[in-house]
Amino acid sequence: MSIPEEIDFEVDADELTPLVDRDRELGAPSLVVDDLYITYRVFGGKRVAPGTGTPPNLLSRFLSRGRTHVGGITAVEAVRGISFIARHGESIGIVGVNGSGKSTLLRAVAGLIPPTKGSVYVSGDPSLLGVNAVLMGSLTGERNVMIGGLALGLTQDEVEERFDDIVEFSGIGDAIYLPMNTYSSGMGARLRFAISAAAVPDVLMIDEALATGDAAFRKKSKDRIDAIRDQAGTVFLVSHSLATIESICSRTLWIHQGKLVMDGPSDEVCAAYKAFVKAQDSRG
Ligand SMILES: Nc1ncnc2c1ncn2[C@@H]1O[C@H](COP(=O)(O)OP(=O)(O)OP(=O)(O)O)[C@@H](O)[C@H]1O
Ligand SMILES: [Mg+2]
Repeated sequence: MSIPEEIDFEVDADELTPLVDRDRELGAPSLVVDDLYITYRVFGGKRVAPGTGTPPNLLSRFLSRGRTHVGGITAVEAVRGISFIARHGESIGIVGVNGSGKSTLLRAVAGLIPPTKGSVYVSGDPSLLGVNAVLMGSLTGERNVMIGGLALGLTQDEVEERFDDIVEFSGIGDAIYLPMNTYSSGMGARLRFAISAAAVPDVLMIDEALATGDAAFRKKSKDRIDAIRDQAGTVFLVSHSLATIESICSRTLWIHQGKLVMDGPSDEVCAAYKAFVKAQDSRG
Protein backbone atom coordinates (compact mmCIF):
# COMPACT_ATOMS: atom_id res chain seq x y z
CA MET A 1 0.00 0.00 0.00
CA SER A 2 1.38 3.39 -0.79
CA ILE A 3 0.74 6.26 1.55
CA PRO A 4 2.12 9.70 0.90
CA GLU A 5 2.47 11.99 3.84
CA GLU A 6 2.31 15.69 4.03
CA ILE A 7 3.75 17.05 7.20
CA ASP A 8 5.34 20.16 8.53
CA PHE A 9 8.70 20.15 10.21
CA GLU A 10 12.19 21.38 9.77
CA VAL A 11 15.48 19.58 9.91
CA ASP A 12 18.47 21.56 11.04
CA ALA A 13 21.45 21.02 8.81
CA ASP A 14 23.78 21.24 11.80
CA GLU A 15 22.91 17.81 13.13
CA LEU A 16 22.94 16.05 9.82
CA THR A 17 25.65 13.80 8.55
CA PRO A 18 26.76 14.64 5.03
CA LEU A 19 25.23 12.72 2.21
CA VAL A 20 27.49 9.79 1.50
CA ASP A 21 25.29 7.69 -0.72
CA ARG A 22 24.59 9.94 -3.63
CA ASP A 23 25.52 7.21 -6.04
CA ARG A 24 23.17 4.72 -4.40
CA GLU A 25 21.39 2.64 -6.98
CA LEU A 26 17.86 3.77 -7.51
CA GLY A 27 14.89 1.51 -7.95
CA ALA A 28 11.97 1.55 -10.33
CA PRO A 29 9.85 4.69 -10.69
CA SER A 30 7.63 5.30 -7.66
CA LEU A 31 5.97 8.40 -9.02
CA VAL A 32 5.36 9.92 -12.42
CA VAL A 33 4.09 13.47 -12.74
CA ASP A 34 3.08 14.18 -16.32
CA ASP A 35 2.45 17.73 -17.54
CA LEU A 36 0.63 18.63 -14.32
CA TYR A 37 -1.48 21.76 -14.08
CA ILE A 38 -3.23 22.91 -10.89
CA THR A 39 -5.51 25.93 -11.04
CA TYR A 40 -7.22 27.25 -7.92
CA ARG A 41 -10.49 29.09 -8.40
CA VAL A 42 -11.09 31.78 -5.84
CA PHE A 43 -14.08 34.08 -5.45
CA GLY A 44 -13.21 37.77 -5.42
CA GLY A 45 -10.00 39.37 -6.50
CA LYS A 46 -9.58 42.60 -8.38
CA ARG A 47 -11.35 43.02 -11.69
CA VAL A 48 -9.62 45.03 -14.38
CA ALA A 49 -11.94 46.02 -17.21
CA PRO A 50 -10.17 45.64 -20.54
CA GLY A 51 -9.11 48.86 -22.23
CA THR A 52 -9.75 51.06 -19.21
CA GLY A 53 -7.52 52.78 -16.71
CA THR A 54 -3.80 52.95 -16.81
CA PRO A 55 -1.86 50.01 -18.17
CA PRO A 56 -0.56 47.85 -15.35
CA ASN A 57 2.97 48.67 -14.36
CA LEU A 58 5.74 46.09 -14.32
CA LEU A 59 5.26 45.25 -10.66
CA SER A 60 1.53 44.61 -10.88
CA ARG A 61 2.06 42.62 -14.07
CA PHE A 62 4.60 40.51 -12.20
CA LEU A 63 2.31 40.06 -9.19
CA SER A 64 -0.64 39.06 -11.33
CA ARG A 65 1.26 36.52 -13.37
CA GLY A 66 -0.57 33.25 -13.45
CA ARG A 67 -3.83 34.92 -12.40
CA THR A 68 -6.83 35.61 -14.57
CA HIS A 69 -10.10 37.16 -13.49
CA VAL A 70 -13.40 36.15 -15.05
CA GLY A 71 -16.88 36.86 -13.71
CA GLY A 72 -15.86 37.43 -10.10
CA ILE A 73 -13.73 34.29 -9.98
CA THR A 74 -9.98 34.55 -9.97
CA ALA A 75 -8.10 31.59 -11.37
CA VAL A 76 -4.70 31.08 -9.78
CA GLU A 77 -2.50 28.87 -11.92
CA ALA A 78 -0.32 27.53 -9.15
CA VAL A 79 1.29 24.67 -11.10
CA ARG A 80 1.82 25.02 -14.85
CA GLY A 81 3.01 21.99 -16.78
CA ILE A 82 5.34 20.19 -14.38
CA SER A 83 6.71 16.76 -15.36
CA PHE A 84 9.22 14.52 -13.57
CA ILE A 85 9.81 10.93 -12.51
CA ALA A 86 10.81 9.91 -8.98
CA ARG A 87 12.33 6.54 -8.13
CA HIS A 88 12.31 4.26 -5.12
CA GLY A 89 15.10 5.14 -2.73
CA GLU A 90 15.34 8.70 -3.98
CA SER A 91 15.11 11.80 -1.81
CA ILE A 92 14.14 14.90 -3.72
CA GLY A 93 14.31 18.48 -2.49
CA ILE A 94 11.95 21.16 -3.75
CA VAL A 95 13.05 24.80 -3.69
CA GLY A 96 11.49 28.02 -4.92
CA VAL A 97 10.43 31.43 -3.66
CA ASN A 98 7.21 31.93 -1.66
CA GLY A 99 4.15 31.21 -3.73
CA SER A 100 6.04 29.34 -6.45
CA GLY A 101 3.77 26.29 -6.12
CA LYS A 102 5.80 23.87 -3.95
CA SER A 103 3.05 23.02 -1.45
CA THR A 104 0.48 22.81 -4.24
CA LEU A 105 2.66 20.28 -6.06
CA LEU A 106 3.00 18.15 -2.92
CA ARG A 107 -0.72 18.28 -2.22
CA ALA A 108 -1.44 17.18 -5.77
CA VAL A 109 1.05 14.32 -5.53
CA ALA A 110 -0.62 13.28 -2.25
CA GLY A 111 -3.93 13.17 -4.06
CA LEU A 112 -5.39 15.92 -1.90
CA ILE A 113 -6.21 18.14 -4.89
CA PRO A 114 -7.13 16.83 -8.34
CA PRO A 115 -5.06 17.85 -11.37
CA THR A 116 -6.68 20.55 -13.49
CA LYS A 117 -4.81 18.99 -16.39
CA GLY A 118 -2.15 16.30 -16.72
CA SER A 119 -1.67 13.34 -14.39
CA VAL A 120 0.04 11.94 -11.34
CA TYR A 121 0.82 8.21 -11.20
CA VAL A 122 1.96 6.68 -7.92
CA SER A 123 3.15 3.09 -7.62
CA GLY A 124 0.93 0.99 -5.42
CA ASP A 125 -2.39 2.04 -4.01
CA PRO A 126 -3.73 5.00 -5.99
CA SER A 127 -6.04 6.17 -3.19
CA LEU A 128 -3.82 8.57 -1.35
CA LEU A 129 -4.38 10.21 1.95
CA GLY A 130 -2.14 12.50 3.92
CA VAL A 131 -2.34 12.38 7.70
CA ASN A 132 -2.89 16.14 7.80
CA ALA A 133 -6.11 15.79 5.89
CA VAL A 134 -7.78 13.60 8.48
CA LEU A 135 -6.62 14.90 11.85
CA MET A 136 -9.19 16.89 13.83
CA GLY A 137 -8.15 19.77 16.05
CA SER A 138 -11.12 19.49 18.38
CA LEU A 139 -10.22 15.91 19.32
CA THR A 140 -7.46 14.85 21.69
CA GLY A 141 -4.05 13.85 20.46
CA GLU A 142 -4.92 10.33 21.61
CA ARG A 143 -7.98 10.14 19.33
CA ASN A 144 -6.00 11.63 16.47
CA VAL A 145 -3.32 8.97 16.80
CA MET A 146 -6.06 6.41 16.17
CA ILE A 147 -7.61 8.37 13.29
CA GLY A 148 -4.25 9.05 11.65
CA GLY A 149 -3.11 5.46 12.14
CA LEU A 150 -6.27 4.09 10.52
CA ALA A 151 -5.83 6.55 7.64
CA LEU A 152 -2.34 5.16 7.14
CA GLY A 153 -3.81 1.70 6.74
CA LEU A 154 -2.98 0.30 10.18
CA THR A 155 -5.58 -1.79 12.01
CA GLN A 156 -7.00 -0.64 15.35
CA ASP A 157 -4.91 -3.29 17.14
CA GLU A 158 -1.77 -2.15 15.35
CA VAL A 159 -2.38 1.47 16.37
CA GLU A 160 -2.99 0.46 20.00
CA GLU A 161 0.18 -1.60 19.94
CA ARG A 162 2.22 1.35 18.65
CA PHE A 163 0.48 4.04 20.70
CA ASP A 164 3.15 4.31 23.41
CA ASP A 165 5.91 4.48 20.80
CA ILE A 166 4.10 7.22 18.91
CA VAL A 167 3.62 9.33 22.04
CA GLU A 168 7.21 8.70 23.06
CA PHE A 169 8.51 9.70 19.61
CA SER A 170 6.44 12.88 19.63
CA GLY A 171 7.75 13.79 23.07
CA ILE A 172 4.60 15.75 23.89
CA GLY A 173 3.87 13.80 27.10
CA ASP A 174 0.51 14.20 28.84
CA ALA A 175 -0.58 16.79 26.26
CA ILE A 176 -1.60 13.76 24.21
CA TYR A 177 -4.85 13.79 26.27
CA LEU A 178 -5.65 17.42 25.33
CA PRO A 179 -7.39 18.58 22.13
CA MET A 180 -4.91 19.11 19.30
CA ASN A 181 -6.05 22.69 18.79
CA THR A 182 -4.51 23.54 22.18
CA TYR A 183 -1.07 22.47 20.88
CA SER A 184 1.62 24.87 19.77
CA SER A 185 2.44 24.54 16.08
CA GLY A 186 5.63 22.73 17.03
CA MET A 187 3.78 20.20 19.19
CA GLY A 188 1.25 19.59 16.43
CA ALA A 189 3.98 19.04 13.86
CA ARG A 190 5.80 16.62 16.16
CA LEU A 191 2.71 14.55 16.73
CA ARG A 192 1.89 14.49 13.00
CA PHE A 193 5.39 13.33 12.25
CA ALA A 194 5.22 10.69 14.98
CA ILE A 195 1.94 9.34 13.60
CA SER A 196 3.40 9.22 10.10
CA ALA A 197 6.44 7.42 11.47
CA ALA A 198 4.20 4.61 12.73
CA ALA A 199 3.80 3.25 9.22
CA VAL A 200 6.30 2.97 6.40
CA PRO A 201 4.94 5.06 3.54
CA ASP A 202 6.07 4.53 -0.04
CA VAL A 203 6.21 8.25 -0.57
CA LEU A 204 6.95 10.57 2.33
CA MET A 205 6.33 14.27 1.78
CA ILE A 206 7.67 16.86 4.15
CA ASP A 207 6.58 20.44 3.69
CA GLU A 208 8.54 22.69 5.95
CA ALA A 209 6.28 25.42 7.13
CA LEU A 210 7.10 25.35 10.78
CA ALA A 211 10.34 25.25 12.63
CA THR A 212 9.82 22.56 15.18
CA GLY A 213 11.61 21.91 18.33
CA ASP A 214 14.85 20.71 19.57
CA ALA A 215 17.91 19.00 18.21
CA ALA A 216 16.89 15.59 19.50
CA PHE A 217 13.63 15.67 17.58
CA ARG A 218 15.33 16.82 14.40
CA LYS A 219 17.83 13.98 14.74
CA LYS A 220 14.96 11.49 15.11
CA SER A 221 13.26 12.97 12.06
CA LYS A 222 16.42 12.68 10.00
CA ASP A 223 16.85 9.03 11.08
CA ARG A 224 13.25 8.42 10.08
CA ILE A 225 13.87 9.85 6.60
CA ASP A 226 16.92 7.62 6.22
CA ALA A 227 14.96 4.56 7.32
CA ILE A 228 12.27 5.22 4.75
CA ARG A 229 14.83 5.64 2.00
CA ASP A 230 16.55 2.45 3.09
CA GLN A 231 13.24 0.67 2.66
CA ALA A 232 13.15 2.03 -0.88
CA GLY A 233 10.59 4.72 -0.23
CA THR A 234 10.73 8.10 -1.93
CA VAL A 235 11.12 11.24 0.15
CA PHE A 236 10.15 14.76 -0.90
CA LEU A 237 11.38 17.66 1.18
CA VAL A 238 10.25 21.25 0.66
CA SER A 239 12.55 23.64 2.46
CA HIS A 240 13.81 27.19 2.38
CA SER A 241 16.98 25.95 4.04
CA LEU A 242 19.28 25.02 1.17
CA ALA A 243 21.78 23.50 3.60
CA THR A 244 19.08 21.08 4.77
CA ILE A 245 18.15 20.20 1.21
CA GLU A 246 21.75 19.68 0.16
CA SER A 247 22.50 17.42 3.13
CA ILE A 248 19.38 15.23 2.78
CA CYS A 249 18.50 15.23 -0.90
CA SER A 250 20.61 13.99 -3.78
CA ARG A 251 18.33 15.62 -6.33
CA THR A 252 16.44 18.92 -6.27
CA LEU A 253 13.61 20.46 -8.25
CA TRP A 254 13.47 24.26 -8.53
CA ILE A 255 10.02 25.61 -9.13
CA HIS A 256 9.29 29.16 -10.18
CA GLN A 257 5.84 30.60 -10.93
CA GLY A 258 4.42 27.10 -11.17
CA LYS A 259 7.00 25.85 -13.65
CA LEU A 260 9.90 23.47 -13.22
CA VAL A 261 12.93 25.55 -14.11
CA MET A 262 15.63 23.09 -13.04
CA ASP A 263 15.86 19.41 -12.06
CA GLY A 264 19.24 17.95 -11.21
CA PRO A 265 21.87 17.24 -8.55
CA SER A 266 21.14 19.24 -5.38
CA ASP A 267 24.43 21.11 -5.31
CA GLU A 268 23.98 22.39 -8.87
CA VAL A 269 20.33 23.32 -8.50
CA CYS A 270 20.84 24.97 -5.10
CA ALA A 271 23.78 26.98 -6.45
CA ALA A 272 21.72 28.22 -9.41
CA TYR A 273 18.77 29.03 -7.15
CA LYS A 274 21.02 30.86 -4.69
CA ALA A 275 22.42 32.98 -7.53
CA PHE A 276 18.89 33.76 -8.73
CA VAL A 277 17.71 34.84 -5.26
CA LYS A 278 20.82 36.98 -4.83
CA ALA A 279 20.27 38.68 -8.19
CA GLN A 280 16.63 39.35 -7.28
CA ASP A 281 17.60 40.80 -3.90
CA SER A 282 20.12 43.18 -5.38
CA ARG A 283 17.49 44.40 -7.85
CA GLY A 284 15.42 45.38 -4.79
N1 LIG B 1 -6.11 27.10 -1.37
C1 LIG B 1 -5.71 28.03 -2.27
N2 LIG B 1 -6.61 28.77 -2.96
C2 LIG B 1 -6.21 29.68 -3.84
N3 LIG B 1 -4.93 29.94 -4.16
C3 LIG B 1 -3.99 29.25 -3.51
C4 LIG B 1 -4.32 28.26 -2.54
N4 LIG B 1 -3.17 27.72 -2.08
C5 LIG B 1 -2.16 28.34 -2.73
N5 LIG B 1 -2.65 29.26 -3.59
C6 LIG B 1 -1.87 30.11 -4.53
O1 LIG B 1 -1.12 29.24 -5.35
C7 LIG B 1 0.20 29.75 -5.54
C8 LIG B 1 1.20 28.71 -5.06
O2 LIG B 1 1.07 28.55 -3.66
P1 LIG B 1 1.87 27.45 -2.83
O3 LIG B 1 1.31 27.42 -1.45
O4 LIG B 1 1.88 26.17 -3.59
O5 LIG B 1 3.34 28.07 -2.83
P2 LIG B 1 4.66 27.61 -2.06
O6 LIG B 1 5.72 27.47 -3.08
O7 LIG B 1 4.37 26.44 -1.20
O8 LIG B 1 4.98 28.88 -1.18
P3 LIG B 1 5.67 29.01 0.28
O9 LIG B 1 7.15 28.94 0.09
O10 LIG B 1 5.27 30.36 0.75
O11 LIG B 1 5.13 27.90 1.16
C9 LIG B 1 0.24 31.08 -4.79
O12 LIG B 1 -0.02 32.09 -5.75
C10 LIG B 1 -0.88 30.98 -3.79
O13 LIG B 1 -1.43 32.25 -3.56
MG1 LIG C 1 4.38 26.14 0.89
